[in-house]
Amino acid sequence: MEKSAKVFVAGHRGMVGSAIMRKLTENNFLNVITRTSEQLDLRNQQEVDTFFKAENPDYVFLAAAKVGGILANNVYRAEFLYDNLLIESNIIHAAYKYKTKKLLFLGSSCIYPKMAPQPLKEEYLLTGLLEPTNEPYAIAKITGIKLCEAYRDQYGCNFISAMPTNLYGQGDNYHPENSHVIPGLIRRFHDAKMNRNDHVAIWGSGSPLREFLYVDDLANACLFLMEKYNEKLFINIGTGIDITIKDLAELIKEVVGFEGSIVFDASKPDGTPRKLMDVSKLAAMGWQYSIFLKEGLTKTYEFFKDEISK
Ligand SMILES: NC(=O)c1ccc[n+]([C@@H]2O[C@H](COP(=O)([O-])OP(=O)(O)OC[C@H]3O[C@@H](n4cnc5c(N)ncnc54)[C@H](OP(=O)(O)O)[C@@H]3O)[C@@H](O)[C@H]2O)c1
Repeated sequence: MEKSAKVFVAGHRGMVGSAIMRKLTENNFLNVITRTSEQLDLRNQQEVDTFFKAENPDYVFLAAAKVGGILANNVYRAEFLYDNLLIESNIIHAAYKYKTKKLLFLGSSCIYPKMAPQPLKEEYLLTGLLEPTNEPYAIAKITGIKLCEAYRDQYGCNFISAMPTNLYGQGDNYHPENSHVIPGLIRRFHDAKMNRNDHVAIWGSGSPLREFLYVDDLANACLFLMEKYNEKLFINIGTGIDITIKDLAELIKEVVGFEGSIVFDASKPDGTPRKLMDVSKLAAMGWQYSIFLKEGLTKTYEFFKDEISK
């Protein structure tokens, strides 16, 4: 990517998009264009076409999506499928039509079958049934991957896809109903500390294993792939290390400084038992994460406190 190239970050106010923005600024990319969802509804094909025709971006980071935790994914099933299909179809088609040099589509680890062998290798895509609670979102993300592949096959577009593991960090969403596991736990432990509660109740058994990547590491990987990766097959982004929800909760409890106990509510769903990315492909290209979990959680808790004090 040339420093003067026109770069469009779709979803620049989101957690991932804003981390990509920070990384682009840090690397002196001066010609970055953005639109909020109020300025440009990416579900609207005509608006997206008009925008691409006028702006003609050279590079596109597709980090706009309707995103949420287990509950939101399960309740708003139609919206998660419809919005995400429209956003990715409109952008990918316009990028082809207006000759974008390269596009990076961001998916998620939920694209893999629920019972796929671990760690998850890229070739396990479409080898089994998905986790039902987030199936609509996963189907939309799989479609995004297939769109990138199909536009490469039919039109020779250099569209690549990357599948990040669970992310956390600056700009996360702390909404009590539709947040992901780390921001949800940070809020609950913080509130319990402030209210001097004697325990925090956590959904599920605590046994599922999950992998987490600090969002600035993800942004770093996105720029790396935009510079160096030109293959049809999508690529995983993660740390390659997982932790039980129970151990994660203990770590967050320590970072937040909550002194009560943790109670697991096993009557609530656990979701997929284990989700660990095989990151050997990315590692073979020379990329590795740099922010360890405890360091990342400590930074995240500081961002959370700043956020709630506003
Ligand atoms: N967060 C994670 O743990 C995680 C993990 C793996 C993969 N990912 C992937 O990373 C990508 C971004 O996730 P995120 O966590 O950054 O999500 P986020 O914080 O919710 O941000 C999503 C962004 O998408 C934009 N957007 C949504 N609907 C739009 C629409 N109709 N028109 C225009 N813009 C729209 C929003 O724009 P406005 O702010 O302007 O409304 C927002 O900035 C997604 O593809 C997701 O699958 C995320």
